[in-house]
Formats: sequence, structure tokens, C-alpha cells
Amino acid sequence: KHKRRESIYVTMNYAKDFFMRTMQTSQEGKSLGLGYFKNRGYNGDTINKFDLGYSLDAWDALEKSAFEKGYTEKSLELAGLRSENEKGKKYDRFRGRVMFPIHDLSGRVIAFGARTLKKDGKPKYLNSPETEIYHKSDALYGIYHAKDALRIKDRCYLVEGYTDVISLNQSGIENVVASSGTALTEGQIKQIKRFTNNVTAVFDGDAAGLKAAIRGVDMLLEQGLNVRVVRLPEGEDPDSYCTQLGGTKFAEFLKDAETDFILFAAKLYNEEAKNDPLNKAEKVREVLMSIVKIPDTIQQEIFIKECATVFDISVDGLIKELNALTKREI
Ligand code: GTP
Ligand code: MN
Ligand code: MN
Ligand code: MN
Ligand code: MN
Repeated sequence: KHKRRESIYVTMNYAKDFFMRTMQTSQEGKSLGLGYFKNRGYNGDTINKFDLGYSLDAWDALEKSAFEKGYTEKSLELAGLRSENEKGKKYDRFRGRVMFPIHDLSGRVIAFGARTLKKDGKPKYLNSPETEIYHKSDALYGIYHAKDALRIKDRCYLVEGYTDVISLNQSGIENVVASSGTALTEGQIKQIKRFTNNVTAVFDGDAAGLKAAIRGVDMLLEQGLNVRVVRLPEGEDPDSYCTQLGGTKFAEFLKDAETDFILFAAKLYNEEAKNDPLNKAEKVREVLMSIVKIPDTIQQEIFIKECATVFDISVDGLIKELNALTKREI
């Protein structure tokens, strides 16, 4: 069992090297893969730092190369590098995509995220399946490259995607990890907490995703993290905005724009309620639902007072409602 896990790590490392080499040396890799990353503004150091690569648009390119080095079909399968159709025909899982290796805390490659180069290619990102070394819900993109900076800066920027992590790193902001588009799990948060208790979630500008993102923060509060948020301008994600502003200005923007999460949510919901009493009651409850998750009762009290001001209602009323919610939670 242990031997098998070790062999999967070795296979994944081979695949990573193969995708990197393919991108740097093959005609197709240079024009499509390297060309793509250069277009996005990534320099050579960044490409090497994140082990970025390219998978050829062919059915068996990885398999052929791996076989020559003595890897077996079985080892490729255990690593999640092969797929199979209904007729039992096997083929390389990743084809014609740019490859983002996902590293564990110690820098070993445990999975790949692979982006299509086609305009509306589906899926946009194809990921490795779960394997013996890759449990999607535990992996945190960027953690290996972030860990020193997390400790030094005592803050973790939380972004959505691979490209956000990479752009920020290239701009000198290394204390950043990505949730990969979903809400963080307890396992992922525990990894962050080894290095810092302060998280700044950087939200995309679009209002649609904002509500989901706000609920996603509850897990961070529950784990006792101090959460701040930054909302980007409409239509921007951390990658696009950082590239647009440049690293220095973007870092300044983050510092200036970050606000405490509970206050951010309270203000947002209060604006939405537009003084309609029923609507307002519902929105107040939304914010209390987040406050109730905070383990520190003194912090809870401070937030209650601030919310009372934002919503222009009494502290007593809020505390009553909070107590009712607490009972329901237990
Ligand atoms: P670009 O469009 O290349 O700039 O990537 P992005 O990171 O901005 O993509 P987006 O904001 O759409 O998604 C954020 C993150 O969610 C991605 O980095 C992925 O981790 C994840 N994601 C997005 N689309 C998919 C998908 O189709 N499948 C899977 N498994 N994950 C996805
Ligand atoms: Mn699992
Ligand atoms: Mn998005
Ligand atoms: Mn993007
Ligand atoms: Mn994005």
C-alpha cells in the first residue's frame, strides 16, 4: 500500500516533467502552450516556479513516453493519467491543454488542473480524478509556494483560481492560495491555520458569485479565523486586475480595500434591504447566521454592536435573535 503511493508520486513527477519538456521543446508545445502562457504575461521564472506545461493533442503521447521509461499502464491509471471510453479503449486523460500541476505542502505533484485552449472548450478546466494521493477536498492550490510568506506576512489571501495564484506570485505577492472555485473545506482551512489565523478573501467583482462567496466564508469563521474581504471592480478577477494595475499598485489596492467580513456583509445586506422592514429582518438574520459561527464570544459581541449601528436596530434585539440562532445551531 505504501509502496503503491510512492510509485504514484514518482509517476506524477514523471508526467509533470514530460508536460514541461513538451511545452519547452516540441513545436506544438512552444506555439500553443508556451505561447498561451506568454500571452497571459507569465515570464520564464514563473513558468518554471509553478512547473507549468502542455499536453500534446494526441491520444497516447504521455503513455508512449512513459512506457519507454518503464512505467506501466497500471501505474499511469493509478495516477489518474489515463481515461477509458465505453468500449474499454484507453487514452491519455490530458490532451491539448495547458497543465497546472497541483503540489502538496512538501512540493510533490499530486494532481493536475488542465485548461482548454479552445475559446468555449468544455470543461474549461479538466482536473485529475481522486487517486490514492489526491483527495480533492484536501488539496489547496498554491500552498507549497505560499507557506513561507504566510508565516512572514501572517496573512493569507484567498482567491478562486490557479491563474490568480500565479499572477499574484509573479507580482511578488506569495501569501496566496486558491480554493479552486469551491468553498473551502475543513481540511484546507487546517492547512492555512498551520501558518496564519488571518485570511483575506478576494472576491470577484460580479454580483452573481458574491452571495455564494459570502456563504463560503462561514467555514472560515467557524474555524476561528479572522476574515477580511476585498471586493474587486466589476468584471475583474485577481489575475486580471493584478495584471492591469501591476504588482505594486495591486498590493496597495488590497491593503486599502480590505474590510472586516462581518461589516462588509452587514453593509451589503443593509443596502439591499432598502428599508423594507420584512426584507431587512431577513437580511439581519443572514448576517447573524455568520456571526453565530464565530467561536469567540467577545468577538461576537463586538460584531453585534457594529451590526446594530449598520442596520440601525437595537443591540438587545440582535442578541436575542443571536441566542435563538445559537440554540438552533446546537
Ligand atoms: P481563466 O479563465 O483562465 O482566467 O481562469 P480562472 O481561474 O479565472 O477561471 P474561473 O474564474 O472561471 O474559475 C476559477 C477556478 O475554478 C479555476 O481556476 C478552477 O480551479 C475552477 N474551475 C473553473 N472552471 C472549472 C471547470 O470547468 N472544471 C473544474 N473542475 N474546475 C473549474
Ligand atoms: Mn478522497
Ligand atoms: Mn470566477
Ligand atoms: Mn481569470
Ligand atoms: Mn477567475
